[in-house]
Amino acid sequence: MSQYARILGTGICLPERVVTNKDLEKIVSTSDEWIRERTGVVERRVSDADTAASDLAVVAATEAMDRAGVTPDEIEAVLVATITPDQIFPATACIVQHRLGIKNAMAVDLSAACTGFLYALSVAQAYVESGRYRRILAIGVDLLTKTVDWGDRATCVLFGDGAGAAVIGPDPDNGVLHTILGADGQYGDLIIQRAGGSRIPISREAIDAGHHYIQVKGREVYRHAVTVMTSVALDCLKHCGLSKDDIRWLIPHQANLRIIEGVSERLEIPMERFVVNVQKYANTSAATIPIALHEAILDGRIVKGDIVLMVSFGSGLTWGASVMRF
Ligand SMILES: CC(C)(COP(=O)(O)OP(=O)(O)OC[C@H]1O[C@@H](n2cnc3c(N)ncnc32)[C@H](O)[C@@H]1OP(=O)(O)O)[C@@H](O)C(=O)NCCC(=O)NCCS
Repeated sequence: MSQYARILGTGICLPERVVTNKDLEKIVSTSDEWIRERTGVVERRVSDADTAASDLAVVAATEAMDRAGVTPDEIEAVLVATITPDQIFPATACIVQHRLGIKNAMAVDLSAACTGFLYALSVAQAYVESGRYRRILAIGVDLLTKTVDWGDRATCVLFGDGAGAAVIGPDPDNGVLHTILGADGQYGDLIIQRAGGSRIPISREAIDAGHHYIQVKGREVYRHAVTVMTSVALDCLKHCGLSKDDIRWLIPHQANLRIIEGVSERLEIPMERFVVNVQKYANTSAATIPIALHEAILDGRIVKGDIVLMVSFGSGLTWGASVMRF
């Protein structure tokens, strides 16, 4: 590889408002104990009515650019992975580009749900490796609390809001070693928000049917998640000629602690080497991996030279794994 795509800086943004499991006990028939036991979640961040994806993305991206020592005029591409954009169009990436004062960049949203950040990272990787762009902003942001039915205990306990951003640029020595992405649309209805597109436009009927809410077939998602995350992680390692012992840190998508433990068991990599924060933030969709990555860099867990495996899974279905030498 003549040049790797390296993460030069990261940043995050989480809404201030904390909603605990105990708070949810007051609005749906659930319990702190049930939520902890089934998901590992203790609390999540929930944004205010007037906060949208670009608001969180701009804060996260500003921090990422600061930490990378990069100015807005150096950014050549803005990639926003989200399934909760400010609006259907124009793209949230364009709003972010404008608000950050980025003048000479392409800007586009990627819709790959919880795998979105790895999809964005992979696009950035391809541009950087090819020499096309030298400074790319990749952001994972989702506010799925805006799409949940707060009367549905099966979904409202699972999600939180947040954003994570990374600046990606070329490096001769370290960076992304390999990424594998996948998709299988036959399972599209396992996690779906039906209304708001061209199939079911927003209408009174659509709303009465609850089609504007996120719907999740939790048990089936769970089964697919463990299997697919394990196999794509192993495929990615194999492609890199690395063994499980070479992995210093594993950053999984944070949907559910039990899914993460299942992946740990199948990969035979102990939980001590997993970065886990699902207890604090629940499932922030495209933001879980960049948030966990950022926290582990900042608190000194991930240091230069560490081999880090990121693996995810989400609506689509989509999945992906990426191995980097940090
Ligand atoms: C959602 C999830 C936590 C549910 O756990 P589970 O062990 O599969 O539980 P089930 O869905 O089988 O539900 C078991 C029971 O708990 C009930 N239940 C569901 N949510 C509940 C809640 N918040 N509180 C209390 N009980 C609840 C169900 O109604 C069901 O009751 P029943 O047996 O009387 O019908 C789990 O399947 C999961 O995490 N799946 C993946 C999450 C996901 O899709 N994330 C988004 C994409 S990455």
